[in-house]
Amino acid sequence: MLVPLSFPSDPAARAQRYDDVALSIGGLLDGEDDWIAALATVACELSHGFDWFHWTGFYRAVSDDLLIVGPYQGGHGCTRIAFSRGVCGAAARTRVTQLVPDVHAHPDHIACSGTTNSEIVVPVLTPDGRLLAVLDLDSDHPAAFDALDQACLEAICADLGRRFA
Ligand code: SME
Repeated sequence: MLVPLSFPSDPAARAQRYDDVALSIGGLLDGEDDWIAALATVACELSHGFDWFHWTGFYRAVSDDLLIVGPYQGGHGCTRIAFSRGVCGAAARTRVTQLVPDVHAHPDHIACSGTTNSEIVVPVLTPDGRLLAVLDLDSDHPAAFDALDQACLEAICADLGRRFA
């Protein structure tokens, strides 16, 4: 297990940490074909890799318009989110990553924790475009996520989508 990287962290250190986390996930998921085990492993590795990820986990796409919470690390979250609601719903609906530097300025944000200030939600898609889940990361720091986080998290989610296509 890695010692969590501390906030703030320069882009080179963050990129290196994402490489380390991706390597660790690759090793842990080698030969694993259970979806929930994979989601739990990714949530764990990301949560323990970065000390500013205060809610780290997945909402699973269980129908064309409903997400149900999956494995996560952090305080409690809503158990169900319709595609029509919240940042997670927007990511599910549009299949595009939602980068929210200030959740208080985002009219659709669902506040599961009063301490959250920024958020990123990345869709997990199969190579043929089927939505499996969304990865949700919340931080108490304002603007905790940027384009580097987006690119690295999208690569991790694309890898998951390929494994469970
Ligand atoms: N903030 C999310 C809801 C999920 S929780 O933060 C864990 C949203 O607006 O969709």
